[in-house]
Amino acid sequence: MLTDSFGRTVDYLRISVTDRCDLRCTYCLPQGFKGFAVPKDWLTIEELARVAAAFARLGTKRFRLTGGEPLLRKGLADLAAEISRLPGVEDISLTTNGTQLKQHAQALRNAGVKRLNISLDSLRRDCITHITGSDCLPQVLEGIQAAQNAGFERIKINMVPLKGINDIDLDDMVAFCIRHGFILNLIEAMPLGATGQAHAKVSLQPVLTELQQKFDLLPLKETIGGGPARYWHSSNNGFTLGLITPMSQHFCATCNRVRLSATGNLHLCLGQEDKAPLRELLRSGCSDNELDHHIRQAVLRKPEKHEFVENPKKIIRVMALTGG
Ligand code: 5AD
Ligand code: SF4
Repeated sequence: MLTDSFGRTVDYLRISVTDRCDLRCTYCLPQGFKGFAVPKDWLTIEELARVAAAFARLGTKRFRLTGGEPLLRKGLADLAAEISRLPGVEDISLTTNGTQLKQHAQALRNAGVKRLNISLDSLRRDCITHITGSDCLPQVLEGIQAAQNAGFERIKINMVPLKGINDIDLDDMVAFCIRHGFILNLIEAMPLGATGQAHAKVSLQPVLTELQQKFDLLPLKETIGGGPARYWHSSNNGFTLGLITPMSQHFCATCNRVRLSATGNLHLCLGQEDKAPLRELLRSGCSDNELDHHIRQAVLRKPEKHEFVENPKKIIRVMALTGG
């Protein structure tokens, strides 16, 4: 088991397979962003699989593949298949913006990916074009359809409500999720980089009060998927709402995860700079024992909490660079 110095167990690894993305969501990547890593600095699919194997040896049961946009990385399905073969692995999930899902959904399902989170901030085409910088709504909806046909165990829709931009879409998003049997995950924008900082002002607490009344939602005791979301459910219409509230109600005390970046940095907290570089170690021909030791030592340095509220200018790294 991996444990940190605050007694938290880390049993969940999020692997960013690329920092690149085909979209430029206003709260994530700046237009004209030039800070992407060069390919030689990316961990290879074999190196990513080796780090995943080390985490599995150290008790990690759940993995998420993310980015950037993970479907832009060649060999993603091979990586998923490798991870699903590791002893002790119970769950592989994937976060995607959906633009390439139509082509890849079935291969990913066949490779052992069980659950998907698909980002969708609105059902209005002009709104999506405004938020993502790309007229991609029809393509994303096709991707979502393909994902449904591919038979994933569960699909969650990730939405970042932004005041005056897509907050008017909440009712339509709920109706869409009820119709398709998706869970709607609302995420408070976090001040990651200048783009995130420009948006991280919406508390979801009033949104919750409103949606609770409108859709007869009652709090669910159990968590779904072991993440930080809290859930509400209506037995009238079967709808489940998830809320991820790092700003208005943080959940650092129960944090169970670390993140591996595409360039091989182990980020110990989304909201702190602390990290352990693994790439040079991997390329120096280290033994599995050395790798495991290095990961144990790194996890011991996991910070207690983020400071998004107290110190909102602290993190200049945008979400796509750490792994969303
Ligand atoms: N705050 C909150 N969520 C963000 N995402 C990207 N940037 C931010 C941010 N600053 C989310 C996207 C996507 C997931 C990968 O990360 O909405 O669903
Ligand atoms: Fe790309 Fe996701 Fe960032 Fe949007 S939020 S720019 S889809 S990585």
